[in-house]
Amino acid sequence: MTANLVHDLRTALGESAVVTDPADMAAYVTDWTGSFTGTALAVVRPASTAEVATAVRLCAAAGVGVVPQGGNTGLVGGGVPDSGGDQIVISLGRMRRVREVDPVADTLTVEAGTPLATVQEAAAAAGRLFPLSLGSEGSCTIGGTIATNAGGTAVLRYGMMRELVLGLEVVLPDGRVWDGLRPLRKDNTGYDLKQLFIGSEGTLGVVTAAVLRLLPATPRRATAFVALESVEAATALLPLLREHGGGQLTTWELLGRQAVDLVLAHLPGARDPFPERHAWYGLVELAGTSADVDERLEEALADASEQGLLVDAVLAGSPAQRESLWALREGVSEAQKSEGATLKHDVTLPITALSRFVAEVGPRLLTALPGLRLVTYGHIGDGNLHYNISAPVGDDAALKREAPALTRIVYDAVTALGGSISAEHGIGALKRDAAAAYKTGVEVDLLRAVKQAIDPDGVMNPRKVVPG
Ligand code: FAD
Ligand code: MLT
Ligand code: ZN
Repeated sequence: MTANLVHDLRTALGESAVVTDPADMAAYVTDWTGSFTGTALAVVRPASTAEVATAVRLCAAAGVGVVPQGGNTGLVGGGVPDSGGDQIVISLGRMRRVREVDPVADTLTVEAGTPLATVQEAAAAAGRLFPLSLGSEGSCTIGGTIATNAGGTAVLRYGMMRELVLGLEVVLPDGRVWDGLRPLRKDNTGYDLKQLFIGSEGTLGVVTAAVLRLLPATPRRATAFVALESVEAATALLPLLREHGGGQLTTWELLGRQAVDLVLAHLPGARDPFPERHAWYGLVELAGTSADVDERLEEALADASEQGLLVDAVLAGSPAQRESLWALREGVSEAQKSEGATLKHDVTLPITALSRFVAEVGPRLLTALPGLRLVTYGHIGDGNLHYNISAPVGDDAALKREAPALTRIVYDAVTALGGSISAEHGIGALKRDAAAAYKTGVEVDLLRAVKQAIDPDGVMNPRKVVPG
Protein backbone atom coordinates (compact mmCIF):
# COMPACT_ATOMS: atom_id res chain seq x y z
CA MET A 1 0.00 0.00 0.00
CA THR A 2 2.71 2.52 0.98
CA ALA A 3 4.94 1.47 -1.95
CA ASN A 4 1.95 2.19 -4.18
CA LEU A 5 1.52 5.58 -2.51
CA VAL A 6 5.11 6.62 -3.27
CA HIS A 7 4.66 5.40 -6.85
CA ASP A 8 1.38 7.31 -7.21
CA LEU A 9 2.88 10.49 -5.74
CA ARG A 10 5.77 10.25 -8.24
CA THR A 11 3.39 9.72 -11.12
CA ALA A 12 1.25 12.68 -10.10
CA LEU A 13 3.93 15.19 -9.04
CA GLY A 14 7.04 14.02 -10.89
CA GLU A 15 10.12 12.02 -9.75
CA SER A 16 12.04 14.99 -8.37
CA ALA A 17 9.16 16.16 -6.14
CA VAL A 18 9.21 12.96 -4.07
CA VAL A 19 12.30 12.34 -1.94
CA THR A 20 12.85 8.91 -0.37
CA ASP A 21 16.62 8.69 0.03
CA PRO A 22 17.27 8.69 3.82
CA ALA A 23 20.24 11.06 3.48
CA ASP A 24 18.15 13.53 1.49
CA MET A 25 15.26 13.23 3.96
CA ALA A 26 17.48 13.77 7.03
CA ALA A 27 17.03 17.56 7.18
CA TYR A 28 13.24 17.15 7.07
CA VAL A 29 12.86 14.57 9.84
CA THR A 30 14.84 16.27 12.62
CA ASP A 31 13.74 19.57 14.16
CA TRP A 32 15.77 22.74 14.83
CA THR A 33 16.36 21.84 18.48
CA GLY A 34 17.66 18.37 17.60
CA SER A 35 15.32 16.89 20.23
CA PHE A 36 12.77 15.46 17.81
CA THR A 37 13.76 12.96 15.11
CA GLY A 38 11.34 10.70 13.28
CA THR A 39 10.99 8.67 10.13
CA ALA A 40 9.04 9.42 6.96
CA LEU A 41 7.88 7.25 4.07
CA ALA A 42 8.80 10.16 1.79
CA VAL A 43 9.20 13.92 1.67
CA VAL A 44 6.97 15.50 -0.96
CA ARG A 45 7.85 18.92 -2.40
CA PRO A 46 4.85 20.22 -4.36
CA ALA A 47 5.11 23.32 -6.54
CA SER A 48 1.46 24.43 -6.51
CA THR A 49 -1.75 24.32 -4.51
CA ALA A 50 -3.11 21.73 -6.96
CA GLU A 51 -0.08 19.50 -6.30
CA VAL A 52 -0.52 19.85 -2.51
CA ALA A 53 -4.18 18.86 -2.94
CA THR A 54 -3.24 15.82 -5.03
CA ALA A 55 -0.61 14.72 -2.51
CA VAL A 56 -3.00 15.06 0.45
CA ARG A 57 -5.77 13.23 -1.42
CA LEU A 58 -3.44 10.31 -2.22
CA CYS A 59 -2.19 10.14 1.39
CA ALA A 60 -5.74 10.23 2.76
CA ALA A 61 -6.79 7.41 0.42
CA ALA A 62 -3.80 5.33 1.56
CA GLY A 63 -4.47 6.06 5.25
CA VAL A 64 -1.09 7.76 5.59
CA GLY A 65 -0.58 10.81 7.82
CA VAL A 66 0.60 14.16 6.45
CA VAL A 67 3.08 16.40 8.28
CA PRO A 68 3.14 19.90 6.75
CA GLN A 69 6.52 21.58 6.98
CA GLY A 70 7.75 25.10 6.27
CA GLY A 71 11.19 26.28 7.37
CA ASN A 72 11.47 23.62 10.10
CA THR A 73 12.33 26.23 12.73
CA GLY A 74 9.48 25.25 15.07
CA LEU A 75 10.48 24.67 18.69
CA VAL A 76 7.90 22.09 19.83
CA GLY A 77 8.51 19.19 17.44
CA GLY A 78 5.33 19.86 15.45
CA GLY A 79 6.84 20.03 11.97
CA VAL A 80 8.64 16.69 11.86
CA PRO A 81 7.22 13.17 11.75
CA ASP A 82 7.41 10.98 14.83
CA SER A 83 8.92 7.51 14.89
CA GLY A 84 5.70 5.78 13.78
CA GLY A 85 7.08 5.47 10.23
CA ASP A 86 3.59 5.98 8.79
CA GLN A 87 3.77 9.59 7.64
CA ILE A 88 4.65 11.74 4.66
CA VAL A 89 6.22 15.17 5.07
CA ILE A 90 4.80 17.80 2.73
CA SER A 91 7.38 20.56 2.48
CA LEU A 92 6.11 23.89 1.14
CA GLY A 93 9.63 25.07 0.29
CA ARG A 94 9.02 25.31 -3.47
CA MET A 95 5.93 27.52 -3.07
CA ARG A 96 7.61 30.85 -2.43
CA ARG A 97 6.02 33.39 -4.72
CA VAL A 98 4.79 36.80 -3.60
CA ARG A 99 1.71 36.87 -5.82
CA GLU A 100 0.63 40.46 -5.32
CA VAL A 101 1.35 43.61 -3.31
CA ASP A 102 -1.62 45.98 -3.31
CA PRO A 103 -0.68 49.38 -1.85
CA VAL A 104 -4.26 50.68 -2.03
CA ALA A 105 -5.88 47.79 -0.19
CA ASP A 106 -2.68 47.55 1.93
CA THR A 107 -2.40 43.81 1.39
CA LEU A 108 0.17 41.28 0.24
CA THR A 109 -0.78 37.89 -1.19
CA VAL A 110 1.85 35.20 -0.82
CA GLU A 111 2.44 31.47 -1.12
CA ALA A 112 2.91 29.56 2.12
CA GLY A 113 6.53 28.48 1.61
CA THR A 114 7.81 32.05 1.30
CA PRO A 115 10.31 32.96 4.03
CA LEU A 116 9.08 35.67 6.42
CA ALA A 117 12.09 37.86 5.55
CA THR A 118 11.10 37.82 1.86
CA VAL A 119 7.65 39.12 2.79
CA GLN A 120 9.18 41.86 4.97
CA GLU A 121 11.42 42.86 2.03
CA ALA A 122 8.53 42.86 -0.47
CA ALA A 123 6.50 45.09 1.86
CA ALA A 124 9.47 47.45 2.32
CA ALA A 125 10.02 47.64 -1.45
CA ALA A 126 6.43 48.90 -1.72
CA GLY A 127 7.03 51.48 1.03
CA ARG A 128 4.98 49.50 3.56
CA LEU A 129 5.68 47.34 6.61
CA PHE A 130 4.93 43.70 7.39
CA PRO A 131 5.61 43.87 11.11
CA LEU A 132 5.96 40.25 12.27
CA SER A 133 9.57 39.83 13.38
CA LEU A 134 11.29 36.72 14.81
CA GLY A 135 14.89 35.60 15.28
CA SER A 136 14.21 32.87 12.72
CA GLU A 137 12.74 35.19 10.07
CA GLY A 138 15.35 34.30 7.44
CA SER A 139 14.20 30.66 7.46
CA CYS A 140 10.68 30.40 8.88
CA THR A 141 7.86 30.57 6.34
CA ILE A 142 4.55 32.37 6.12
CA GLY A 143 2.75 29.00 6.29
CA GLY A 144 4.67 28.07 9.44
CA THR A 145 4.06 31.43 11.11
CA ILE A 146 0.35 31.10 10.33
CA ALA A 147 0.21 27.49 11.51
CA THR A 148 1.91 28.39 14.80
CA ASN A 149 0.34 31.85 15.18
CA ALA A 150 3.87 33.15 15.67
CA GLY A 151 4.68 36.08 17.93
CA GLY A 152 8.15 37.63 18.24
CA THR A 153 9.52 41.03 19.11
CA ALA A 154 6.86 43.42 17.77
CA VAL A 155 3.70 41.82 19.21
CA LEU A 156 3.43 44.60 21.78
CA ARG A 157 2.45 46.97 18.98
CA TYR A 158 1.12 44.83 16.13
CA GLY A 159 -0.19 41.63 17.69
CA MET A 160 0.54 38.03 16.72
CA MET A 161 0.24 36.51 13.25
CA ARG A 162 -3.48 35.96 13.86
CA GLU A 163 -3.99 39.71 13.72
CA LEU A 164 -2.05 40.13 10.47
CA VAL A 165 -3.90 37.61 8.28
CA LEU A 166 -6.94 38.62 6.20
CA GLY A 167 -7.43 35.54 4.06
CA LEU A 168 -6.23 31.97 3.62
CA GLU A 169 -6.13 29.19 1.07
CA VAL A 170 -6.05 25.76 2.70
CA VAL A 171 -5.90 22.19 1.42
CA LEU A 172 -8.26 20.21 3.63
CA PRO A 173 -7.57 16.68 4.94
CA ASP A 174 -9.62 15.11 2.14
CA GLY A 175 -7.74 17.03 -0.56
CA ARG A 176 -10.39 19.67 -1.26
CA VAL A 177 -9.21 23.28 -1.44
CA TRP A 178 -10.84 25.97 0.72
CA ASP A 179 -10.41 29.26 -1.12
CA GLY A 180 -10.68 31.86 1.61
CA LEU A 181 -8.09 34.09 -0.02
CA ARG A 182 -10.10 37.27 0.49
CA PRO A 183 -8.56 40.68 1.25
CA LEU A 184 -11.58 41.86 3.25
CA ARG A 185 -11.23 43.81 6.49
CA LYS A 186 -14.83 43.00 7.35
CA ASP A 187 -16.46 39.63 6.73
CA ASN A 188 -19.05 38.68 9.33
CA THR A 189 -20.47 35.66 7.57
CA GLY A 190 -20.61 33.19 10.40
CA TYR A 191 -17.65 31.43 12.01
CA ASP A 192 -14.30 33.02 11.14
CA LEU A 193 -12.89 29.87 9.53
CA LYS A 194 -9.41 31.24 8.87
CA GLN A 195 -8.89 31.74 12.61
CA LEU A 196 -9.43 28.00 13.14
CA PHE A 197 -6.50 27.19 10.87
CA ILE A 198 -4.25 29.91 12.33
CA GLY A 199 -2.45 28.30 15.25
CA SER A 200 -3.66 24.78 14.41
CA GLU A 201 -0.07 23.64 13.72
CA GLY A 202 -0.88 21.61 10.63
CA THR A 203 -3.50 19.46 12.36
CA LEU A 204 -6.47 20.70 10.31
CA GLY A 205 -5.09 21.34 6.82
CA VAL A 206 -2.17 22.58 4.75
CA VAL A 207 -2.03 26.35 4.35
CA THR A 208 -0.99 27.06 0.75
CA ALA A 209 -1.38 30.85 0.47
CA ALA A 210 -2.43 33.90 2.49
CA VAL A 211 -3.50 37.51 2.19
CA LEU A 212 -1.60 39.56 4.76
CA ARG A 213 -2.20 43.05 6.14
CA LEU A 214 0.40 45.73 5.50
CA LEU A 215 1.06 48.69 7.77
CA PRO A 216 2.71 52.08 7.48
CA ALA A 217 6.49 51.86 7.23
CA THR A 218 8.48 53.01 10.27
CA PRO A 219 11.71 54.37 8.81
CA ARG A 220 12.88 56.02 12.04
CA ARG A 221 13.90 53.81 14.90
CA ALA A 222 15.24 54.61 18.35
CA THR A 223 16.79 51.68 20.20
CA ALA A 224 18.29 51.34 23.67
CA PHE A 225 19.77 48.56 25.77
CA VAL A 226 19.21 49.12 29.47
CA ALA A 227 20.49 47.58 32.69
CA LEU A 228 17.91 46.76 35.37
CA GLU A 229 17.98 45.55 38.94
CA SER A 230 14.96 43.30 38.78
CA VAL A 231 12.11 41.85 36.74
CA GLU A 232 9.83 44.08 38.80
CA ALA A 233 11.65 47.14 37.42
CA ALA A 234 11.18 45.77 33.90
CA THR A 235 7.42 45.43 34.32
CA ALA A 236 7.14 48.79 36.11
CA LEU A 237 8.87 50.40 33.12
CA LEU A 238 6.22 49.25 30.63
CA PRO A 239 3.55 51.91 31.34
CA LEU A 240 6.23 54.59 31.37
CA LEU A 241 7.61 53.46 27.97
CA ARG A 242 4.08 53.34 26.58
CA GLU A 243 3.30 56.81 27.83
CA HIS A 244 6.45 58.38 26.39
CA GLY A 245 6.27 56.25 23.25
CA GLY A 246 3.06 57.87 22.04
CA GLY A 247 1.94 54.78 20.11
CA GLN A 248 5.44 54.15 18.71
CA LEU A 249 6.61 51.66 21.32
CA THR A 250 7.29 48.48 19.32
CA THR A 251 9.60 46.34 21.43
CA TRP A 252 10.19 45.75 25.13
CA GLU A 253 12.33 42.66 25.68
CA LEU A 254 13.94 41.24 28.82
CA LEU A 255 17.25 39.39 29.17
CA GLY A 256 18.68 37.79 32.31
CA ARG A 257 22.40 37.87 33.01
CA GLN A 258 22.88 34.21 32.01
CA ALA A 259 21.23 34.80 28.63
CA VAL A 260 23.56 37.71 27.86
CA ASP A 261 26.58 35.72 29.07
CA LEU A 262 25.73 32.90 26.65
CA VAL A 263 25.52 35.30 23.71
CA LEU A 264 28.81 36.96 24.70
CA ALA A 265 30.43 33.52 24.90
CA HIS A 266 29.11 32.13 21.62
CA LEU A 267 28.35 34.95 19.19
CA PRO A 268 31.47 36.12 17.38
CA GLY A 269 31.97 39.88 17.81
CA ALA A 270 29.32 40.26 20.55
CA ARG A 271 30.33 42.61 23.35
CA ASP A 272 28.82 43.79 26.62
CA PRO A 273 27.61 47.38 26.14
CA PHE A 274 28.19 48.18 29.84
CA PRO A 275 31.43 48.35 31.85
CA GLU A 276 29.81 46.52 34.78
CA ARG A 277 27.77 43.33 35.06
CA HIS A 278 24.06 43.61 35.86
CA ALA A 279 21.34 41.16 36.87
CA TRP A 280 18.82 42.02 34.17
CA TYR A 281 18.74 43.84 30.85
CA GLY A 282 16.07 45.25 28.55
CA LEU A 283 15.94 46.08 24.86
CA VAL A 284 13.52 48.84 23.97
CA GLU A 285 12.63 50.20 20.56
CA LEU A 286 10.37 53.00 19.32
CA ALA A 287 9.66 53.17 15.60
CA GLY A 288 7.77 55.67 13.50
CA THR A 289 7.89 58.28 10.77
CA SER A 290 8.71 61.42 12.70
CA ALA A 291 12.11 62.49 14.02
CA ASP A 292 10.88 62.58 17.61
CA VAL A 293 11.39 58.87 18.30
CA ASP A 294 14.91 59.54 19.64
CA GLU A 295 13.71 62.39 21.79
CA ARG A 296 10.82 60.35 23.16
CA LEU A 297 13.08 57.44 24.04
CA GLU A 298 15.62 59.73 25.73
CA GLU A 299 12.84 61.32 27.78
CA ALA A 300 11.48 57.90 28.75
CA LEU A 301 14.90 56.74 29.91
CA ALA A 302 15.53 59.97 31.85
CA ASP A 303 12.17 59.62 33.55
CA ALA A 304 12.84 55.94 34.34
CA SER A 305 16.22 56.82 35.78
CA GLU A 306 14.68 59.51 37.99
CA GLN A 307 12.16 56.99 39.29
CA GLY A 308 14.95 54.57 40.12
CA LEU A 309 13.85 51.98 37.56
CA LEU A 310 17.07 52.03 35.51
CA VAL A 311 20.65 51.29 36.47
CA ASP A 312 22.28 52.20 33.16
CA ALA A 313 21.36 52.65 29.49
CA VAL A 314 23.00 52.90 26.06
CA LEU A 315 21.24 54.34 23.03
CA ALA A 316 22.11 53.09 19.56
CA GLY A 317 23.83 55.95 17.78
CA SER A 318 24.07 54.28 14.37
CA PRO A 319 22.50 51.40 12.43
CA ALA A 320 25.57 49.27 13.22
CA GLN A 321 25.17 49.89 16.95
CA ARG A 322 21.47 49.10 16.72
CA GLU A 323 22.30 45.83 15.03
CA SER A 324 24.82 44.88 17.70
CA LEU A 325 22.30 45.57 20.49
CA TRP A 326 19.67 43.51 18.67
CA ALA A 327 22.21 40.70 18.19
CA LEU A 328 22.47 40.36 21.98
CA ARG A 329 18.74 39.62 22.06
CA GLU A 330 18.32 37.63 18.86
CA GLY A 331 21.42 35.52 19.53
CA VAL A 332 20.13 33.81 22.69
CA SER A 333 18.41 30.77 21.13
CA GLU A 334 21.43 29.87 19.02
CA ALA A 335 23.88 30.55 21.88
CA GLN A 336 21.90 28.37 24.27
CA LYS A 337 21.81 25.59 21.71
CA SER A 338 25.63 25.73 21.50
CA GLU A 339 25.85 25.33 25.26
CA GLY A 340 24.44 21.79 25.50
CA ALA A 341 21.09 20.39 26.56
CA THR A 342 18.28 22.93 26.83
CA LEU A 343 14.84 22.65 28.36
CA LYS A 344 12.54 25.27 26.88
CA HIS A 345 9.55 26.76 28.68
CA ASP A 346 7.74 29.33 26.57
CA VAL A 347 5.28 30.63 29.15
CA THR A 348 3.04 33.64 29.58
CA LEU A 349 1.65 35.22 32.71
CA PRO A 350 -0.31 38.30 33.68
CA ILE A 351 2.40 40.96 33.52
CA THR A 352 1.99 41.84 37.19
CA ALA A 353 2.72 38.21 38.19
CA LEU A 354 6.03 37.90 36.30
CA SER A 355 8.39 39.03 39.02
CA ARG A 356 6.72 36.82 41.63
CA PHE A 357 6.95 33.87 39.23
CA VAL A 358 10.68 34.39 38.66
CA ALA A 359 11.39 34.94 42.36
CA GLU A 360 9.52 31.82 43.49
CA VAL A 361 10.23 29.30 40.77
CA GLY A 362 14.01 29.75 40.39
CA PRO A 363 14.84 28.49 43.91
CA ARG A 364 12.45 25.52 43.49
CA LEU A 365 14.19 24.49 40.27
CA LEU A 366 17.65 24.87 41.77
CA THR A 367 16.64 22.66 44.67
CA ALA A 368 15.36 20.02 42.24
CA LEU A 369 18.56 20.13 40.15
CA PRO A 370 21.47 21.99 41.74
CA GLY A 371 23.76 23.62 39.18
CA LEU A 372 21.15 24.10 36.45
CA ARG A 373 21.39 27.41 34.62
CA LEU A 374 18.29 29.59 34.33
CA VAL A 375 18.35 31.31 30.95
CA THR A 376 15.45 33.72 31.31
CA TYR A 377 14.55 36.17 28.56
CA GLY A 378 11.69 37.04 26.27
CA HIS A 379 8.97 39.37 25.23
CA ILE A 380 8.23 40.92 28.62
CA GLY A 381 6.05 43.62 27.10
CA ASP A 382 3.59 40.81 26.21
CA GLY A 383 4.01 38.94 29.51
CA ASN A 384 5.89 36.19 27.62
CA LEU A 385 8.97 34.66 29.22
CA HIS A 386 11.29 32.14 27.62
CA TYR A 387 12.00 30.54 30.96
CA ASN A 388 14.62 28.22 29.52
CA ILE A 389 17.02 26.01 31.41
CA SER A 390 20.54 24.91 30.44
CA ALA A 391 22.06 21.79 31.94
CA PRO A 392 24.56 22.05 34.77
CA VAL A 393 27.96 22.48 33.07
CA GLY A 394 29.01 19.11 31.59
CA ASP A 395 25.93 17.25 32.82
CA ASP A 396 23.37 17.11 30.01
CA ALA A 397 22.21 13.72 31.31
CA ALA A 398 21.02 15.26 34.59
CA LEU A 399 18.84 17.79 32.77
CA LYS A 400 17.34 15.08 30.57
CA ARG A 401 16.65 12.90 33.61
CA GLU A 402 15.03 15.68 35.65
CA ALA A 403 13.21 17.37 32.75
CA PRO A 404 9.69 16.08 33.58
CA ALA A 405 9.97 17.15 37.23
CA LEU A 406 11.41 20.57 36.33
CA THR A 407 8.72 21.20 33.75
CA ARG A 408 6.04 20.24 36.25
CA ILE A 409 7.39 22.83 38.71
CA VAL A 410 7.28 25.52 36.01
CA TYR A 411 3.86 24.64 34.62
CA ASP A 412 2.25 24.26 38.06
CA ALA A 413 3.46 27.73 39.03
CA VAL A 414 2.39 29.25 35.71
CA THR A 415 -1.07 27.76 36.09
CA ALA A 416 -1.40 28.80 39.74
CA LEU A 417 -0.59 32.39 38.76
CA GLY A 418 -3.15 32.46 35.94
CA GLY A 419 -0.75 31.99 33.00
CA SER A 420 -0.43 29.65 30.05
CA ILE A 421 2.15 26.94 29.29
CA SER A 422 2.57 28.06 25.69
CA ALA A 423 2.78 31.72 24.75
CA GLU A 424 3.87 31.59 21.12
CA HIS A 425 5.65 28.36 20.16
CA GLY A 426 2.56 26.16 20.24
CA ILE A 427 1.93 22.63 21.49
CA GLY A 428 3.29 20.32 18.76
CA ALA A 429 4.55 17.03 20.15
CA LEU A 430 6.42 18.55 23.10
CA LYS A 431 3.41 19.84 25.04
CA ARG A 432 0.62 17.57 23.84
CA ASP A 433 0.33 15.62 27.08
CA ALA A 434 0.84 18.74 29.19
CA ALA A 435 -1.93 20.50 27.29
CA ALA A 436 -4.26 17.68 28.24
CA ALA A 437 -3.21 17.96 31.87
CA TYR A 438 -3.33 21.75 32.20
CA LYS A 439 -6.44 22.50 30.13
CA THR A 440 -9.92 22.01 31.52
CA GLY A 441 -11.97 18.99 30.46
CA VAL A 442 -14.29 21.28 28.52
CA GLU A 443 -11.37 22.76 26.57
CA VAL A 444 -10.00 19.33 25.72
CA ASP A 445 -13.46 18.20 24.56
CA LEU A 446 -13.75 21.24 22.29
CA LEU A 447 -10.28 20.66 20.81
CA ARG A 448 -11.16 17.05 20.04
CA ALA A 449 -14.53 18.06 18.56
CA VAL A 450 -12.94 20.55 16.17
CA LYS A 451 -10.31 18.02 15.07
CA GLN A 452 -12.97 15.36 14.55
CA ALA A 453 -15.19 17.71 12.53
CA ILE A 454 -12.49 18.79 10.09
CA ASP A 455 -10.19 15.76 10.03
CA PRO A 456 -12.31 12.74 11.04
CA ASP A 457 -9.78 10.23 9.67
CA GLY A 458 -6.81 11.80 11.47
CA VAL A 459 -4.80 12.49 8.31
CA MET A 460 -3.27 15.80 9.35
CA ASN A 461 -0.18 15.84 11.58
CA PRO A 462 -1.09 12.75 13.61
CA ARG A 463 -0.35 12.66 17.35
CA LYS A 464 0.32 16.42 17.56
CA VAL A 465 -1.47 19.16 19.54
CA VAL A 466 -4.79 17.42 20.27
CA PRO A 467 -4.64 15.12 23.30
CA GLY A 468 -5.13 11.43 22.38
P1 FAD B 1 7.82 24.64 10.78
O1 FAD B 1 8.82 24.55 11.88
O2 FAD B 1 8.16 23.99 9.51
O3 FAD B 1 6.42 24.08 11.31
C1 FAD B 1 5.86 24.54 12.51
C2 FAD B 1 4.44 23.98 12.65
O4 FAD B 1 3.60 24.51 11.63
C3 FAD B 1 4.35 22.48 12.49
O5 FAD B 1 3.34 21.98 13.30
C4 FAD B 1 3.98 22.29 11.02
O6 FAD B 1 3.31 21.08 10.78
C5 FAD B 1 3.10 23.49 10.77
N1 FAD B 1 3.18 24.02 9.41
C6 FAD B 1 4.26 24.53 8.77
N2 FAD B 1 3.90 24.97 7.55
C7 FAD B 1 2.58 24.72 7.42
C8 FAD B 1 1.63 24.95 6.38
N3 FAD B 1 1.97 25.53 5.23
N4 FAD B 1 0.36 24.57 6.58
C9 FAD B 1 -0.03 23.98 7.74
N5 FAD B 1 0.82 23.74 8.75
C10 FAD B 1 2.11 24.11 8.59
N6 FAD B 1 8.47 31.69 17.38
C11 FAD B 1 7.75 32.75 17.83
O7 FAD B 1 6.52 32.69 17.84
N7 FAD B 1 8.38 33.88 18.28
C12 FAD B 1 9.73 34.01 18.28
O8 FAD B 1 10.26 35.02 18.71
C13 FAD B 1 10.50 32.93 17.77
N8 FAD B 1 11.84 33.02 17.72
C14 FAD B 1 12.56 31.97 17.22
C15 FAD B 1 13.95 32.09 17.15
C16 FAD B 1 14.71 31.04 16.66
C17 FAD B 1 16.19 31.18 16.56
C18 FAD B 1 14.06 29.83 16.25
C19 FAD B 1 14.85 28.69 15.70
C20 FAD B 1 12.70 29.71 16.31
C21 FAD B 1 11.93 30.77 16.80
N9 FAD B 1 10.53 30.69 16.87
C22 FAD B 1 9.81 31.75 17.34
C23 FAD B 1 9.83 29.44 16.48
C24 FAD B 1 9.53 29.29 14.96
O9 FAD B 1 10.42 30.04 14.17
C25 FAD B 1 8.10 29.69 14.66
O10 FAD B 1 7.23 28.80 15.29
C26 FAD B 1 7.75 29.71 13.17
O11 FAD B 1 6.45 30.21 13.01
C27 FAD B 1 7.83 28.34 12.50
O12 FAD B 1 7.79 28.52 11.08
P2 FAD B 1 8.34 27.39 10.10
O13 FAD B 1 8.03 27.79 8.71
O14 FAD B 1 9.77 27.11 10.40
O15 FAD B 1 7.42 26.16 10.52
C1 MLT C 1 12.97 33.85 21.03
O1 MLT C 1 12.14 34.73 21.26
O2 MLT C 1 14.18 34.12 20.91
C2 MLT C 1 12.52 32.41 20.89
O3 MLT C 1 11.13 32.40 20.72
C3 MLT C 1 12.88 31.69 22.17
C4 MLT C 1 13.48 30.33 22.18
O4 MLT C 1 14.25 29.94 21.29
O5 MLT C 1 13.23 29.60 23.18
ZN1 ZN D 1 10.12 34.29 21.47
